[in-house]
Amino acid sequence: MAVAADVDAQRLPQHVAIIMDGNGRWAQCRGLPRTAGHRAGMETVRRVVRCADDWGIRVLTLFAFSTENWRRPVTEVAYLMRLPGEYLRSEMDELMARGIRIQMLGDRVGVPALTLRAVERGVVQTAANPGMVLNFAFNYGGRAELVRTVRSIAKEVKNGQLSPETIDEQTIADHLDTRGLPDPDLLIRTSGEQRLSNYLLWQLAYSELLFVPKFWPDFSEMDFEMAMREFQHRQRRFGGVSVSNNG
Ligand code: IPE
Ligand code: IPE
Ligand code: MG
Repeated sequence: MAVAADVDAQRLPQHVAIIMDGNGRWAQCRGLPRTAGHRAGMETVRRVVRCADDWGIRVLTLFAFSTENWRRPVTEVAYLMRLPGEYLRSEMDELMARGIRIQMLGDRVGVPALTLRAVERGVVQTAANPGMVLNFAFNYGGRAELVRTVRSIAKEVKNGQLSPETIDEQTIADHLDTRGLPDPDLLIRTSGEQRLSNYLLWQLAYSELLFVPKFWPDFSEMDFEMAMREFQHRQRRFGGVSVSNNG
């Protein structure tokens, strides 16, 4: 889907982060098991990745599995652990053709070996691609990320590589899983829930928030377009007073 004529291509978000929520309820409404919702949700991932790439989005970050999602029934967790491999196997040709670069945010420790191997393979295979960065937040929690960040900074201080006085916001940003990437300009959460659920706590400090009252499997290209339009109507001020444009 190409950029609509009435959308200003110069004022699109560079980085879009999404909390893909509502798979379970989508399935429940249809009398299906929750796993059927996750399968349908994966189809939406395919559509939205294509769509974001067509719109020229530079970074797309998808919340696929949180550090808290381990609390779910083991069968559901096992199903979710299979999806990254399935997605990457079926989409790799297209991801390569589009030049999309896969990255993983989150703690690799704790992810089953098979899942991790599939993700790592995707990361390595696409590492030299010049196009959109597609981040999968998997076994990701904002607080856990901050803990890992603090630990790695503390190690550098201990080794004498860093002095405490020189630690600033950039130091922290440079140690997060998102190092090198701009902060999200826009956060979209589907399903109607209006909370962050421990997503990108540092990075979302000044993002525009958009809550869409639709379950993730129902999120369409039109919804993405509406999100872009809505973003262009927001006035971002970053604490200042001037009425600046987005982006
Ligand atoms: C989002 O859908 C997918 C994951 C969290 C993995 P949910 O599974 O949370 O769906 P609901 O919120 O229960 O409907
Ligand atoms: C957030 O959704 C995590 C993902 C989309 C992967 P949840 O469904 O886990 O969030 P809560 O439990 O409703 O806050
Ligand atoms: Mg949910």
